[in-house]
Amino acid sequence: MPKDTLTITDNRTGKTYEVPIENGCIRTHALRQIKTGDDDFGLMGYDPAFLNTANCKSAITFIDGDKGILEYRGYPIEQLAEKSSFLEVAYLLLNGELPQQKDLDQFTHLVTHHTLVHENIKSFMDGFRYDAHPMSMLASTVAALSAFYPDAKHTRDERSRRIQITRLIAKMPTIAAFSYRHTMGLPYIYPDNDLSYVANFLTMIKRIGTTTYKVHPVLEKALDVLFILHADHEQNCSTTSVRTVGSSEVDPYSAVSAGVGALYGPLHGGANEAVLRMLREIGHISKIPDFIKQVKGGEGEKKLMGFGHRVYKSYDPRAKVIKRVADEVFEVTGKNPLLEIALELERIALEDEYFVKRKLYPNVDFYSGLIYEAMGFQAEMFPVLFAIPRTVGWCAQWEEMVKDSEQKIARPRQVYTGSGRRDYIAMDKRPSPQK
Ligand code: ACO
Repeated sequence: MPKDTLTITDNRTGKTYEVPIENGCIRTHALRQIKTGDDDFGLMGYDPAFLNTANCKSAITFIDGDKGILEYRGYPIEQLAEKSSFLEVAYLLLNGELPQQKDLDQFTHLVTHHTLVHENIKSFMDGFRYDAHPMSMLASTVAALSAFYPDAKHTRDERSRRIQITRLIAKMPTIAAFSYRHTMGLPYIYPDNDLSYVANFLTMIKRIGTTTYKVHPVLEKALDVLFILHADHEQNCSTTSVRTVGSSEVDPYSAVSAGVGALYGPLHGGANEAVLRMLREIGHISKIPDFIKQVKGGEGEKKLMGFGHRVYKSYDPRAKVIKRVADEVFEVTGKNPLLEIALELERIALEDEYFVKRKLYPNVDFYSGLIYEAMGFQAEMFPVLFAIPRTVGWCAQWEEMVKDSEQKIARPRQVYTGSGRRDYIAMDKRPSPQK
């Protein structure tokens, strides 16, 4: 009868240890018993960037990166994108099950009626320079919400948690739209409770000089689908940041603002902005072979942005849905001229041995920027458009972490590589630095 254990022999001492295997993992803490002597701290795992370390158990999102599968609470992303709505998916991610109609109505009502922000938030945002990046404004303003809602510190109180989660999901589009209006020098537009989540956001962004602005239903649906695709993606960089910061039991606004910060980076949510800049830099399909040559020849300093993923080693299932959404959007807005370059770039890269060997496929960001641009957003807004729906995932993951009795304040170990102990040297006795 095979046993669910791992037998380890320490060749330094000749001792053998048996470590249980649960869910395809060993607890790295079990390695601590492996010592060379009493004063040995014990064996640790060394895993920079968590390439092979599970940081939590989670029942929210499942990914099989080799097969290109993404499921929220067991439901395939393709089905949710086709049949569900963003707020229904938000309910699912937060509560574990699809809602009954009355539950969805109540959730939608709650989110809709928490979209307003305190008037002082407007003055706060006015303090930013005219050229502030909207993602910086978003991160700071979300952090500032903790000053407006001091009750948020009661993270062990389920009712309080749910109020903050509702506020976060509801106010994110308002703050995002305000940050956009600020950069454009336009007056802020207040939320309208008669509109859907997405239509309300687009109206706060787009309405200028009229009260009759109406969102095109195809664009409303397209953004709703994009929001579904971006709602959660298990333990990515920003979610891990939210969990890590949240593990100190700080309020969720502070934790989510850390997630916004992580998402801002060009290797994460900033990638779609980087894709557009890259497509513009390429400029014409005739320049693609040269560009690919530079990517392959460099020491990693030039990347094919929107390609590759830590988890997906096949086509990102979200990218497939996005390609379909792109066609629908371009029917309304006209084709983005950069699309031709993107399609050709994808075609060449998917046939090129460099990308094939490394299993580099288009990720969610490769086409999303083209859609956002066609909808009239400048590139700086792309990561913001990612942060709005991802707030749902951050909140679901944060609450799961708070409720998980196995979790503690996050505190990794290190392998110290610095100097050994030495005595302080007076300024006039210090040797001059080696050139
Ligand atoms: N273009 C060219 N080469 C690449 C790319 C790329 N986009 N991505 C990875 N590689 C190469 C690496 O140089 C490395 O090559 P090597 O084995 O010769 O050294 C190999 O592929 C493996 O890549 P890693 O960097 O080890 O993969 P990692 O899992 O650390 O990185 C990441 C994943 C950050 C997403 C990376 O693929 C990347 O930078 N992509 C471009 C940015 C991007 O699109 N980010 C969005 C990710 S999706 C999201 O956050 C929503």
